[in-house]
Amino acid sequence: MDIYHGTFIHCENFGEIEVLENTAVVVHENKIVAIDVNIDFEQLLSTYKTSEHKIREIYRLSDQEFLIPGFIDAHIHGPQFENAGLGYDKALLEWLKAYTFPLEKKFEDVNYATPVYEKVVETTLKNGTTTAAYFGTIHSKSCLKLAKIAKMKKQRAFIGKVNMNMNVPDYLTEDTRQSIRDTKQFIKDVISLDDPRIQPIITPRFAVSCDLNMLEQLGAVQKEFNCHVQTHVSENVDEIEFIKQLFPKHANYTDVYKKANLLGEKTILAHGVHLTDEELELIRETNSSVIHCPASNTCLKSGLCNVRRLLNNKIKVGLGTDVAGGYNPTILDAMRRAIDVSNHIFLSNPEYRPLNYKEVFYLATMGGAAALSLGEKIGNFKIGKDFDALLVNMENKLIRDLRPEELFQKFLYLGDDRNIKNVFVAGDKVII
Ligand code: GUN
Ligand code: FE
Repeated sequence: MDIYHGTFIHCENFGEIEVLENTAVVVHENKIVAIDVNIDFEQLLSTYKTSEHKIREIYRLSDQEFLIPGFIDAHIHGPQFENAGLGYDKALLEWLKAYTFPLEKKFEDVNYATPVYEKVVETTLKNGTTTAAYFGTIHSKSCLKLAKIAKMKKQRAFIGKVNMNMNVPDYLTEDTRQSIRDTKQFIKDVISLDDPRIQPIITPRFAVSCDLNMLEQLGAVQKEFNCHVQTHVSENVDEIEFIKQLFPKHANYTDVYKKANLLGEKTILAHGVHLTDEELELIRETNSSVIHCPASNTCLKSGLCNVRRLLNNKIKVGLGTDVAGGYNPTILDAMRRAIDVSNHIFLSNPEYRPLNYKEVFYLATMGGAAALSLGEKIGNFKIGKDFDALLVNMENKLIRDLRPEELFQKFLYLGDDRNIKNVFVAGDKVII
């Protein structure tokens, strides 16, 4: 077993952080088995020396260090890593055409994909993303490579082979039967990696690029395998207009997914910037989640997502970097952008209460966990949960005499990968 002693900061409830000082957390076979609050290091040693389990490692944190739960990036496009920072002169649909689709074509070649996927997993891990929900491309082989890389590097990851059969260039347009066959095989291949950290996720890109037949068949695949689903919804006003033309008989964008049996507690919907009240109702009723991608919504000028409204409607919300709609592959940045966007909404609507650092930290950890139906497994430090954690060290910031929650605030606003000394996923120290 491993023992950690020092300050722990995490969330149980939205808007509240718990700071546990002088605390010991004991981890055995991936999981937290004991938490002792207010225990001195010497006292701790004498308690656990006599324990039946052998101590593998003891981490004694300094007063410039603390442990927090690992970050959850619930929406990121692995193949778009190379496009981060490019092409924000356009809005969504034009951006996809000009920049995204030509790049994704290259992923038919696994040799092209491999170094990109290695880099994206390494970079996100180094920056504290212990769990990621990845969009891949339509190409199963490359997506499977991403799954194997995540497994090797020990990131907890949902890997999605993208489906699309309309309104995309010919070179990315799938034959529906083949696409469904490939998806089922991909799901089986990921399951056969036999690693609980690596899961398949059904990934119709968005209703613009999938016809009803394809969406319905993917709904049936979901039922067959009971796996997660991810897609985009209501990101951009032109996209929503297009959906109205494509699906005139449906009540709204979200209803297209609902009727195809693609909503449910394992479904995560990226963006949701312009959702109507009726759509919020559908999302809440089906216990689906929305993933807030503030950087992307700004870069592609999609809009200001009112997260408070989603939460007030009892919708689960997680955070996503949405690389390359967003340019920064780190959840630290997503938290900052979420605060910025929220402050901007407040500036034009003084009734609105902007999100604070505690609230975005919740979204980055417990919020993401709940959105992915992993709230019982990860997201904070509770006995029985997997130990997914970041050991943060703030020494390079030359700050003294701060209370732990102030040091933590500094990390959220000013920290970067140099402050993330160690990353743990299911108790394993991830070597990057
Ligand atoms: N909607 C459909 N595809 C995409 C994508 O790749 N990125 C973003 N941000 N939105 C999308
Ligand atoms: Fe996206």
